[in-house]
Amino acid sequence: MTDLRFDGRVAIVTGAGGGLGREHALLLASRGARVVVNDLGGSMAGEGTDGAPAAAVVQEIRERGGQAVADSHSVATPEGGRDVVRTALDAYGRIDIVVNNAGILRDKPFHEMTPDQLDPVIEVHLKGAFHVTVPAWSVMREQGYGRVVNTTSAAGLLGSARKSGYGAAKAGLLGLTRVLAAEGAAHGIRVNAVAPVAATRMLASSLADARIGGADGRPADPAALEMMNTLTRSLDPGLVSPVVAFLAHEDCPVSGEVYSAGAGQVARFFVGRTRGYHNPALTAEDVRDHLDRIRDETDSFIPADPGVEMAHLLRSTTHHP
Ligand SMILES: NC(=O)c1ccc[n+]([C@@H]2O[C@H](COP(=O)([O-])OP(=O)(O)OC[C@H]3O[C@@H](n4cnc5c(N)ncnc54)[C@H](O)[C@@H]3O)[C@@H](O)[C@H]2O)c1
Repeated sequence: MTDLRFDGRVAIVTGAGGGLGREHALLLASRGARVVVNDLGGSMAGEGTDGAPAAAVVQEIRERGGQAVADSHSVATPEGGRDVVRTALDAYGRIDIVVNNAGILRDKPFHEMTPDQLDPVIEVHLKGAFHVTVPAWSVMREQGYGRVVNTTSAAGLLGSARKSGYGAAKAGLLGLTRVLAAEGAAHGIRVNAVAPVAATRMLASSLADARIGGADGRPADPAALEMMNTLTRSLDPGLVSPVVAFLAHEDCPVSGEVYSAGAGQVARFFVGRTRGYHNPALTAEDVRDHLDRIRDETDSFIPADPGVEMAHLLRSTTHHP
């Protein structure tokens, strides 16, 4: 089997000045892609700007013999997204891959949620993916080829306390991934997502914030902290990038899928549906009395699209259980 190469391909990686994005950019560039290393710089909460992190990653890529250009526009506005895409077109004349990775964190308990905690998180993670991908999409449609990799999170797919804005944005990216996969299919564009787990400043902050073993401001349990430290050492962000690279490659056969990636393990997340319960005269009491059956995962399945789900629903109305 040959190595997966990206010669001739142009990739945009957002938030590539550090953490996961940096690793994605380094890997793609080492396999021959010309890479736009986008990063606004600034704090993890999204405050401030700094062109240095993106420039440093570009320098690193060039020193290793790769090709890259730095871009420090924010993905959080439509103008910023257009400018990121413009950087790619000006530098390299095409776009084959968009990795939507930029992110910030502003965790708060839901009852303390304010617009200034919520809006920037939605703007960077969810709308940011729109802002960059919409202008890139036209280029991809025209050339009949493209790969988009979104970055979702277990915090959104499964739920995690204090992360309502972040979780909603990340779950929104699941919906965007599914819809774009459907829209891109006729144009050679495949769209997938990763749900990473990696030791970056973001994970460190999440863990510190959760006060492992030390809720309510009490000092953290040293044993629990040591366990977390050992665990995070195995979470090399470079072990997420191979999954991103595969999903960004021409040979990637799947679209609309979500892959968990961390510590060298790759797995698939999916939205499944139980067979359910049917009664043409359904009452609230029926739901109560048949909850076990409604929730029963035996013979559950993964509907490919809303049509398949609708077909199942209609079939069950004609075949009484
Ligand atoms: N680390 C994990 O375990 C984990 C888990 C689930 C999801 N994620 C997701 O992975 C992605 C990367 O996170 P990370 O862990 O590497 O954290 P990170 O903080 O190291 O990286 C995020 C990068 O995005 C950049 N950025 C922020 N706002 C931007 C903007 N408006 N425009 C351009 N760049 C911007 C930051 O400057 C930073 O370099 C994020 O989307 C995050 O939500 C990470």
